[in-house]
Amino acid sequence: MINVKDLKFSYRHDGTYQVDGISFEVKEGETLGFLGPNGAGKSTVQKILIGLLPMQEGEAIVDGVAVKDYNSKFFNKIGVSFEFPNAYKKLSALENMEYYASLFDVPTQDPRMLLKLVGLEDAVDKKVGDFSKGMLQRFVMARSMLNKPEVWFLDEPLSGLDPQTSQNIKNVIKQEKETGTTIFLTTHDMHVAEELCDRVAFIESGKIIVIDSPRNLKLKYGEKVVNIEYKESGKTKTEKLALGNEKDADRVSEILKTKEVETVHSGEATLEDIFIELTGRGLK
Ligand SMILES: Nc1ncnc2c1ncn2[C@@H]1O[C@H](COP(=O)(O)OP(=O)(O)O)[C@@H](O)[C@H]1O
Ligand SMILES: [Mg+2]
Repeated sequence: MINVKDLKFSYRHDGTYQVDGISFEVKEGETLGFLGPNGAGKSTVQKILIGLLPMQEGEAIVDGVAVKDYNSKFFNKIGVSFEFPNAYKKLSALENMEYYASLFDVPTQDPRMLLKLVGLEDAVDKKVGDFSKGMLQRFVMARSMLNKPEVWFLDEPLSGLDPQTSQNIKNVIKQEKETGTTIFLTTHDMHVAEELCDRVAFIESGKIIVIDSPRNLKLKYGEKVVNIEYKESGKTKTEKLALGNEKDADRVSEILKTKEVETVHSGEATLEDIFIELTGRGLK
């Protein structure tokens, strides 16, 4: 459904690339997540794929159409939720939805139903300018579903939402996925990537480091880790150690023998642990 080959993009045209030779595909009905820290290039890739930034180098095909050949009909097939939401601030949520719906030349879904789906049923007549960041985030998500998109682009769809709302919105995304929608989403939150994505691409400095299912990433790169808490000079210290690593394993037995151990928890490496292992930096 999405095919990207050797995509490169430079904002500065100075020989540095903020998207630096990226290739990937998203199969029909699949949810692919781009996971990476702020500034990694996630939004830039999404903006190129939706035609908001020009194609500079490489190729990208979305639903059989090369990005450089997009025409207005193409926008009937995709839905886009932006990281920094845009809307007509003086219009109500419903008016915004109706205006946006009028731009499509395909049948659109009931705006009230969509606003309800994202929990904005009580804000239908409220001016979008008076919305909180979280409400605006949910509003653009509802708006991006108007045309029942075949390919849905979600840039940081859960940022700024409280845990309860975040869970509701995750459920909306899961339901859409169930209907066969192909989803490209970006996030800097490993939990979002893990819960929603069939496959995850780790992105850092404009490059994809690795791309696979969360489960395979853990099987391949995630060592079992133990967190040990022990008392030393009256203070509690914590060490996180990998069991697959000889030095760490020796350290575990050393601590067990020589320290006053308070707790020992073992677990799998998280996607962020693996991200750090592969890139040398975290997701924040
Ligand atoms: N409009 C812009 N002009 C110049 N540089 C930009 C612009 N937008 C983003 N960048 C730079 O491009 C890089 C990638 O940004 P972005 O795609 O927004 O990352 P992410 O979405 O992963 O946080 C960053 O170094 C950012 O500073
Ligand atoms: Mg971004």
